[in-house]
Amino acid sequence: MSPSPDIPASAAPASTAVAPRAVASPAGSPAPVPAAPGAPTQAELLAFVRRTAADAELVSTLPLDPEGRTWIRLEGPAGSEAWIIGWPPGTGTGWHDHGGSFGAFATAGGALQEDSLAARLPTEGWKTLELAEGVDRARKLTKGDARAFGSHHVHEVRNESDSEHAVSVHAYYPPLPLMRRYSRTGAVLRLEQVERPQEWQ
Ligand SMILES: [Fe+2]
Repeated sequence: MSPSPDIPASAAPASTAVAPRAVASPAGSPAPVPAAPGAPTQAELLAFVRRTAADAELVSTLPLDPEGRTWIRLEGPAGSEAWIIGWPPGTGTGWHDHGGSFGAFATAGGALQEDSLAARLPTEGWKTLELAEGVDRARKLTKGDARAFGSHHVHEVRNESDSEHAVSVHAYYPPLPLMRRYSRTGAVLRLEQVERPQEWQ
C-alpha cells in the first residue's frame, strides 16, 4: 500500500474520532459546526506548527533521505495529530483531502509549493468532477511561512527545488480518519483512492 499523502506509513493515527462535518442549511449555505469540547481551534494548530517549525533543535532531529520523504510523529495540541516531514527535491503529495479534518502546516526549511482549490467540493457521490475556471490557487511557503486550512480543503504540496530539501510541520484535528486521493487532468479531478489509517501501517 502506498503511503498516505501527508504522512507516509509508520504509525497510524491512534484515534478513530469522527470528523466534524458541515451540514447544509435550508438556505444552502454551510451551517456553522460547533467545536467539539476540548478540540483545538485552527488558530491553535497554526500557532503550534509555527512554533514547532521555529524550533531548530527539534527540527534538526529529523533524518533527511535524498531518496524519499522522512517523518517524525509529534503530539499536537488538544489531541491533534502532528508530524515533521522531510521532502527531498522533486517530491510531492498529489491531490488529496483530509477526510474532514482541519489543520495547518508550516515550512521549517526550504520551500513548498501548494496548489489548492478555492471551491468546496462535494466529498462523496462522484468519481470525476470538472472544475470551473478560476478555482485554482497557488502559493509558495518558504521558511517561516505557515497556513491553516479548513475541513474541506483539497490540495497538493510539492518541493519544486532541484537541489534543496524542504522540511515542514503539519497538524490535523481530528487525527485523520481517512484521506481521499485524486488524479487531475486539466480541469478534471478524479477520485482514485480512499485511504484509511489501517492502510498506512
Ligand atoms: Fe494535505
